[in-house]
Formats: sequence, structure tokens, C-alpha cells
Amino acid sequence: MRVRALWYRDGVLHLVDQRELPQRMVVRRLRHVREVAEAIRTMVVRGAPAIGVAGAYGMVLAEREGSFSPDRAAKLLVATRPTAHDLAVGVETVRVPWAMGGNPLAAADRFRRRIVEECHQIGVAGAPLLLHAHRVLTHCNAGALATVEWGTALAPIRVARARGADLFVWVDETRPLLQGSRLTAWELAREGVPHAVIVDNAAGAFMRSGQVDAVIVGADRIARNGDFANKIGTYEKAVVARENRIPFYVAAPWSTFEPGRANGRSIPVEERDPEEVLSWAGHRVAPRTSPARNPAFDVTPSRYVTAFITPSGAVAPGKLASVLARRATP
Ligand code: MRU
Repeated sequence: MRVRALWYRDGVLHLVDQRELPQRMVVRRLRHVREVAEAIRTMVVRGAPAIGVAGAYGMVLAEREGSFSPDRAAKLLVATRPTAHDLAVGVETVRVPWAMGGNPLAAADRFRRRIVEECHQIGVAGAPLLLHAHRVLTHCNAGALATVEWGTALAPIRVARARGADLFVWVDETRPLLQGSRLTAWELAREGVPHAVIVDNAAGAFMRSGQVDAVIVGADRIARNGDFANKIGTYEKAVVARENRIPFYVAAPWSTFEPGRANGRSIPVEERDPEEVLSWAGHRVAPRTSPARNPAFDVTPSRYVTAFITPSGAVAPGKLASVLARRATP
């Protein structure tokens, strides 16, 4: 029943079109790097690790086309969405071997396998944290659709359930593009995971009334001190979780961590088309003359994080810098 967000076969990148879910399962078949860049920009594929893998295969298509240099193809892809660090990592993973005469497809395949493997490890590392948490709240979609397979925030939920944990998931709907009510709810429903969709504004009330035992989210970029970017609205959930003494976990593969960035102050936050806010399901709801702001992400200070769930285990924010430094030194 588990979905795969994308796969590559014989010069064609196949993407599940996430804009169409849950109404229709449409698979887009892309043969050109420009098509991949456009699919990332328009969120046919979304979620930090998934766009990292899509970007890696975009580089493979660019090399096959013959008219791109590694640098030009990399620039085109990385410019599509500025916040997710995984996109830059996925593209770079292929750019380097391509520039040195190596095999781009082998590099992209390796990156995809690494993401899938790390997400499974996140599931194994995070499952014990949920053993005493019956009701878990998540924001946006950090499931298989966002990561190719398993998910980040959803991986511990999947592994804990496979081990017999009785979990219930509160799903924030996640305005404006509804990644929660459209995508997370769809993934959970397919697997028979008990859940309920709530409007974003309701999460605080559910936490305060004692109906949430843990919050678990993914991330798009995590600085060395543990400040992290994730879908807009994450910051509020973290602050309210702290106020109510509810553990707040951030699950991510290593490609989301950026050891070279000291803190979250300068993380680039993508600002998307105001029309996404002013309309609902394709219909304009705000007055024609009203403007809007549409930052797609916010940055949460590390002090609100109980632990990062990494492929090698749970890491307290205060320990993150030394864990990242150790990874960087062979
Ligand atoms: O704008 P999106 O849908 O790409 O945003 C995705 C998120 O914010 C996810 O929470 C994040 O990428 C982590 S997914 C494993």
C-alpha cells in the first residue's frame, strides 16, 4: 500500500503529481532538465528530500541532453526552491562526478538509496520515542511523498505501528496548499492509520486541552545550532507545545542539516505567489483588491526542539553541533 513519490527508468523521471492528490493519481513523465525544474517550482514534487532526489535525476537528464554544463544545470535546478537544503545536496551529489567525467546516473541512484535508507533509520530511531505517545500531531506532509519512501515525521509512526503501538495522528491541514489534509491524510488513510484532520488554527486548542502527547515534524533546512526551517506554521506549533510541556521532535535525514550555517537567522525563506493565499481550491475568496503575503516556511529556534530524530538516533539540540562536526571528520 505504500506509495513512492518518484522513480527513474530509461531516461525518464516519473513523478507522482502531488497537486492532483488525493482526487487523482497522475504520473508525469519527464525527459528534460527544464521540465524537472518546472515540476519542482510548481510543486508537482515537493518535500525537501524528494526534491533533492528529483534534482539529482534532473542533473542526469541534463547530462543526457548534451547542451548543459554541470554548473548551468545545477544553477537552474537549485534556483527553483531556495529553502530546502536537500535540493542543493542532491544536485551537488551529481554535479561533482559529472564534472569529473564520472557516471551521473550511478550518483543519483546512490543518493536516492541513501535517502530511503536514512528515512527508514529515522523510523527505527524515532519509534521508541512514540511508545508512550498515543496521540501525535504533525504539520504539512513529511511522509513518503515528501521523501521518496517512508517519510521523516511519518517514518517513526510507521515503524511504531508495525511494532504494535496504538497511535492516533492529528493532521494539520496546512494552508495554503493543504499538504496535511490532501497528502498526509491520504498516506495515513491508505495504511489504515487512525487520524483526524484539523484546521491549522485548532492545534493550540487540542494541545492545551491535553489531547496531544507529542508533536513530530520534518524540516527543510537545519542550522548547526538546531534552528530549523519548516512549513509555515511550524514555529507556532513548537511554541505552543513548549507552553504545554509536550515533546516536540524534528525528524530529518543528513541532507537536511547544514553544518556550515551557524544559526537560522539567514536561512532563505521562499515567498510564493500571493494567489495561493487569496484563493481557495482555485476560487478567489479575498476581495480582488486585497494583497497577500505568502512565506512558505518559518524558522523555529532550536530551544523549542526536544530532540532531532536523525538516522543515527535522537540528538538533543545542545549536542547537534558536535554530532555534525564528528560526521564531517572522517
Ligand atoms: O512546500 P513543501 O510542501 O515542499 O514543504 C514541505 C515541508 O515543509 C516538509 O515538512 C519538509 O520538506 C520536510 S519533508 C520530509
